[in-house]
Parts: sequence; structure tokens; C-alpha cells
Amino acid sequence: MTHDDGQGPDHGPKRAHGHDRAHGHHHEDIDWAAMGPMLERNAELAAPQNREIAEWLRTWQLEPKLIADVGSGSGSTSFLLAEIFPNAWVTAVDPAEPLLERARERAAREGLSDRIRTLHAELPAGIAELPSADLLWIGRALHHVGDQEAALTALAERLAPGGAIALLEGGLNQRSLPRDIGFGRPGLQTRFDLADDMWFTRMRAELPGAKSVTEDWPTLLTEAGLRHAGTRTFLLDLPSPVSATARAHLISELARRREMHEETLDADDLTTIDRLLNENDPQSLHHRPDVFLLSAQTVHVGVRA
Ligand SMILES: C[S@@+](CC[C@H](N)C(=O)[O-])C[C@H]1O[C@@H](n2cnc3c(N)ncnc32)[C@H](O)[C@@H]1O
Repeated sequence: MTHDDGQGPDHGPKRAHGHDRAHGHHHEDIDWAAMGPMLERNAELAAPQNREIAEWLRTWQLEPKLIADVGSGSGSTSFLLAEIFPNAWVTAVDPAEPLLERARERAAREGLSDRIRTLHAELPAGIAELPSADLLWIGRALHHVGDQEAALTALAERLAPGGAIALLEGGLNQRSLPRDIGFGRPGLQTRFDLADDMWFTRMRAELPGAKSVTEDWPTLLTEAGLRHAGTRTFLLDLPSPVSATARAHLISELARRREMHEETLDADDLTTIDRLLNENDPQSLHHRPDVFLLSAQTVHVGVRA
């Protein structure tokens, strides 16, 4: 499984986050509200991949009138879905009000306020508030819910007959550097993967109502009463030389992940990362010609009979 956000793990430095407040401030809490610009830059870079995913949904000749983008963040995918399905109304659903505010501002700027709405809601409690949708898009959000199985079943019940859930979970962890970068111990990104896995396991364990489940999404969609209609993995392949946007994204993401994994990575790796982040170092991410961006996202589709 990947815990990637498309261009990186979907978690940030320790901050309080909406839904987990009974037991205080957690190491793994995520300040989603602060992550708007990062999520948007991520979506900008992944636009070709996301467009391909959205187009793939036409395979089922879906003619959605109502789409809900669940865990929408600031709604980058909501806008894409509104473009791909021009007859649909889209509701961006998220517990982070500042992100929804960004979505509303963009909708107003682009003259789309009548077609793109926002709903402030948090799963699982907010599932009952969702519109009866023809398409529920859930991108990298279900894993933030303690009981994913129960949430998926409740979400399936919100589908209009013939409607579909498109669930983006899993894929492959992002790669952006060669295995050997010319200094430090080779294999840094593999060690980051392990740190991500440990982080993710802790993050999930601390969610309210946390329940482990085999993350076999086709089976879970079937158990939620849907027909598993397809699973496909989509590649984002931005070879070197990367754009300034991609480079800036990779730098800010490495800085964020250094903070997240400071206690997990060893001193040698932290020194390597500091060199990669040091603008004055010619071998850093700021200057290296060999930086690239390669990731794979898996989407599972379940259709209601
Ligand atoms: C990794 S971001 C993904 C954003 C967007 N779907 C994308 O693919 O770019 C995860 C999103 O899920 C939202 N989220 C976190 N916990 C949630 C919950 N319990 N219910 C609904 N959304 C949640 C966060 O606020 C955040 O916007």
C-alpha cells in the first residue's frame, strides 16, 4: 500500500486536526487547513493523471447528475470532475472549513458557484448528510476514518441506484531521486517508505473507533453491497528535468517529511536530507539535474445495482 498523496504522503507535521479531540494533541495529527496550497500544487502536478482517472470513469457510461467529492480538500478533483461531467453538480465534502473556503473562492473566480458546492462534514458521522449521489469520489480520504469497512458500507447506501464509488487508495510510493545520489547511504527513499509505514500505522491506530481491516478494496466494495466494476493504476511520470513547480513541491515535501520522521530516521539519513534541502549545496534538490517525479495511484470502482 502507498500512503502517498500523489506526490508524497498525505500527512503533515504534528498539528491538531478536526476529528480527534477527546484525547488531546497527537504526534500524528494533521493540519489539513494549512495544507491547501500544497494539496493544490500536488493536484496541479498530478493533473494529467487525475484527468486520465476521471476519463476512465466514463467506462461505465456514468452520466452523473450529482457527484460528491468526499475528503475533497480544497476541491481540485471536484473541479476536474465538474469539467469531465459537464451536466453534473459537484459537492466538495471535507471537515477542514478553510479548505472548503478555498474551493468556494475558486468556484466564484471561475463562475462555477452554481455547479460546485461545499459541505462541511466529517466521516463517519457526516455520511448521513451527503447527497444521494450518482458518483462518490473518495480520494486518499477513507484511510482517515477509524472503521473504513463500516464507512464504506454507509457510503454505498448514499448512492443513487446505478451510482458508483470511485475509491483512490494504494498504488506505489513516489520516487524522485536515484537510489544512489552520490552521497550518504544509498536507498534513502526505501527507508522513507518504512518510516511512512510506521507513521501510517500509528496514525490509523489513533483514529477514533480505529479498526484494522484487510485493505482489500475490491472485496470491501463487494461487502458494502456493490459490484466491483474495475481497478486500475495510473502513473504520474514527470522525468528530469522537472519543472520549477515540481522542484519546489519536492523540496517543501522533503522538508515536511524530515520533520515528520525526525525521530525515526537515523542521524546519517538526517544529514543527507539536510544536504538535499540546503540551497547552498550544489548537490541539493534545489540544483540537482536528476530529480524526477514518479508515482502510481490505484482506483477501485464499485457500482450499485
Ligand atoms: C490527502 S487529503 C486528499 C485531498 C483530495 N481528496 C486529494 O486527493 O487531493 C485528505 C483529505 O481528507 C480530509 N479528511 C480527513 N479526515 C476526514 C474524515 N474523517 N472525513 C472526511 N474527510 C476527511 C482532509 O481534511 C483532507 O482534505
